[in-house]
Amino acid sequence: MVDNDLEMEAPSTIQAAADTLTNGESAAGEMVPVSSMVHSADQFGGMVVRSAQVRKVLKSVSQLSPYKATVLITGESGTGKELVAHALHTLGSNPTGPFVTLNCSNLVDSLAESQLFGHIRGAFTDAREESRGYFRAANGGTLFLDEIGELPLKLQPKLLRSVETHEVQPVGSSQCYKVNLRLVAATNRDLRAMVRAGQFRDDLYFRLSASAIFIPPLRERREAIPAFIGFFIEQYNRLFGKHVSEISRRAIDILCAYQWPGNVRELSNAIESAVILSESDRIAVPDLPEQIVDGTGADLMYPPDESPSNILAPAQVARRSPTVDAHAEAPGFLLDDVIKRTLMRSLEETEGNRRRAADLLGVSRSTLYRMLTRYGIAETPQRLSVQPTL
Ligand SMILES: Nc1ncnc2c1ncn2[C@@H]1O[C@H](COP(=O)(O)OP(=O)(O)O)[C@@H](O)[C@H]1O
Ligand SMILES: [Mg+2]
Repeated sequence: MVDNDLEMEAPSTIQAAADTLTNGESAAGEMVPVSSMVHSADQFGGMVVRSAQVRKVLKSVSQLSPYKATVLITGESGTGKELVAHALHTLGSNPTGPFVTLNCSNLVDSLAESQLFGHIRGAFTDAREESRGYFRAANGGTLFLDEIGELPLKLQPKLLRSVETHEVQPVGSSQCYKVNLRLVAATNRDLRAMVRAGQFRDDLYFRLSASAIFIPPLRERREAIPAFIGFFIEQYNRLFGKHVSEISRRAIDILCAYQWPGNVRELSNAIESAVILSESDRIAVPDLPEQIVDGTGADLMYPPDESPSNILAPAQVARRSPTVDAHAEAPGFLLDDVIKRTLMRSLEETEGNRRRAADLLGVSRSTLYRMLTRYGIAETPQRLSVQPTL
């Protein structure tokens, strides 16, 4: 289907792109004011809430926050799980209480139980002092257990018991302590698959997942990307004392087309570096990270039908990476792709004869030369290759 469209539309598309190039600057395209990209209505409590999905997440947060019920937040890395955990805390009944974060992948196996529940003096060889543990440190507030999928199996029954009884029993102690806190757990892994594989206890899973919030990946809420771009440009302007006030339409199109395996965190990092690199008060394509412009950063993408818990060999990930789909979704990016492929095809069909290729495309030879340079297409006797355009 794409191929047919390609043939029918190529000459006029090429000519239009050539016209754009002839009009001076326009290679970078139209500039868009940053102020037009993010509105106060798209923000809530320091969060961008531009997409319907994130509004739904926020609705769940406001429904759950008054209660101390345990909440499980799921979503790929960088989707905003920690931000949502904070929102549950600050909108909850005791926002001035402590917010304590424990990343379960940092638990040291032999000490994990004591890290969570504390220990009494002399409980084990190195226990010279009593320790309260994370649970009691979070008393009166929120305990955020990040990467809950990494919680050692043998600790899971004890965690479940604490969740159900609101009590903790320090290692070596016969005494239990009441705790009054909200537990929020987060994971980027498919806990259900882990339960099936015997890597996570089903009883704990059912307890945690009773109130669950799923945050969709950024590529499934692309309509929010311009608002994020504006939000992060303003944030990094403030942080670095910069005054970026415009970004090129083409840069926006590229950012909207990319797959964002690292989600909002990756977008935030990309804008941070673009703000730092921009020499004028504008961001254009050359200011964006190269792997985003050429789409190779998306090689880190997990295949859509696999969860991050099913770790694949890098070669497998690369082979199944849906990089091309990213381009197909965004009109701005697709245009470049279509032009490049059409140029290459015209050269292939004419065996590299530029005069005939120009005739085939219905453009002058000088236009063809300019387009080949512009799109970084180098001709070799056997093969035609494309270099990334910047
Ligand atoms: N909706 C949002 N609005 C503003 N910033 C966001 C949003 N979602 C994520 N972020 C930012 O993206 C980064 C990653 O978010 P984080 O909560 O740490 O993700 P996760 O815990 O899922 O890996 C943080 O800098 C966070 O502030
Ligand atoms: Mg996180």
